Amino acid sequence: METLHIDQSLSKEEKYKSLLPQIEGLISSEKDTIANLANVAAVIYESFDFLWVGFYLQKGKELVLGPFQGPLACTRIQFGRGVCGKSWEINQPIIVPNVDEFADHIACSSLSKSEIVIPFSTPTYEAIIFDLDSEKLADFDETDQKYLQKVCDLLNTYCVE
Ligand code: SME
Repeated sequence: METLHIDQSLSKEEKYKSLLPQIEGLISSEKDTIANLANVAAVIYESFDFLWVGFYLQKGKELVLGPFQGPLACTRIQFGRGVCGKSWEINQPIIVPNVDEFADHIACSSLSKSEIVIPFSTPTYEAIIFDLDSEKLADFDETDQKYLQKVCDLLNTYCVE
């Protein structure tokens, strides 16, 4: 697949539904984790009006910045710190409707108002955090969590190297 087909007039849920098979088509023929994370970040960034879409990869006792789209970001996050480190610690997704109300939020960009993070793993990485930021308050909800989790499941299936 070389071209992404996104109908920008669709609802958020319909957009996710139309993207999932396209993402599967894109990553199912590539085993490399970093290559697939890079394309997934690009696809989601291109499809929605989010500020930042990217991945942090576990290396030892910290998370290190991986492929992303958006403004430059913090390179290392310690276990349990920030939204990403907390999600890694509890191994659960976290939705933050207002980042100013999340005590330990790490502000990479002052433009970020809300955030969602989903932790997952692959054969090569014990923990990867899928992190999305928005300039709008409460921009992420259960619909995002449901479909972004499906994206992580696809990455878990196809990223074997
Ligand atoms: N806000 C995140 C840090 C990563 S940036 O949003 C890209 C956190 O608190 O973990």
